[in-house]
Amino acid sequence: MRVLHTRDDLRFLDELKRKRPLVLVPTMGALHEGHLSLVREAERYGAVVATIFVNPTQFGPGEDYDAYPRDLESDLERLRPLNVEAVFAPPVSLMYPEGSGVSIQPGSRGLGLCGGDRPGHFAGVLTVVAKLFGLTRPEIAVFGRKDAQQCLVIDQMVRDLEFPVRLIDAPTIREGDGLAMSSRNRYLDAEERSRALCLSQALREAERLVAGGERSAGKVRQRMWDHLSPADEIRYAEIRSVPDLQEPERMEGRILLAVSAQVGPARLIDNLVLEISDDAVREGSLLGDGER
Ligand code: PAJ
Repeated sequence: MRVLHTRDDLRFLDELKRKRPLVLVPTMGALHEGHLSLVREAERYGAVVATIFVNPTQFGPGEDYDAYPRDLESDLERLRPLNVEAVFAPPVSLMYPEGSGVSIQPGSRGLGLCGGDRPGHFAGVLTVVAKLFGLTRPEIAVFGRKDAQQCLVIDQMVRDLEFPVRLIDAPTIREGDGLAMSSRNRYLDAEERSRALCLSQALREAERLVAGGERSAGKVRQRMWDHLSPADEIRYAEIRSVPDLQEPERMEGRILLAVSAQVGPARLIDNLVLEISDDAVREGSLLGDGER
């Protein structure tokens, strides 16, 4: 596993590409099993290159950019047992050199949810992802369904701007009790950790309601909202269509359940995609045909 820091180091990727498609897994480090599952998914498609970069432009004022955990050595230790050909961990000066100023604004899928709650967040995400794509030129890139809106906003960028990259969305990895793995879970103490369970429980309760026949989006949304009451502050609890993230009145077809809440010092999110037909409700995917 090569560790790359500079633009010159990236020449190593040309060698990799001669043999197999390059598959990119962008991360901000503080790696957990969710990130590692993305790498395992990526291995199926070609030579895996993971990136580790805490991207300053996607954090708003007062958010946790400074506090965000950074430990490259332990991240590399986690990646070493896997089939990762290279890790690209650039300095801020390479990603945002003096004089750089262009940024990419999200399209319609960036409205609402985290786009509404964190102004400028997705412009920061898209700009850094576009830059990572430009530097590494992957054939395929893997993103987590855990950050559903992020996945769909990136998909819209790739389509609208004709980026020659195929996106794969990978399922959410959870702790045994249902809590979605997140680098921010390490901010939680024991009491907050147990209250944080309300996010995944809100999603499962909503799923249960739909499986029982409820098709009113308003009623399902209210059920999620009720289950989020242990949180310190509910940021949103929303029902959206996939992939366009419109607000449907009825629970039909492919639907995203999206929740976000503040629990202690951590702003947490969780997402669940449902594939809903008249006679069945099952978990779905964000991109592709939903067959996962
Ligand atoms: P980060 O939060 O480090 O997440 C990196 C990737 O891991 C994202 O695609 C995210 O959706 C995925 N991921 C996080 N938790 C997961 C879980 N429990 N199960 C499965 N996948 C999970 O997302 C970012 O970084 C940044 O915004 C980035 C795209 C790297 C741009 O800076």
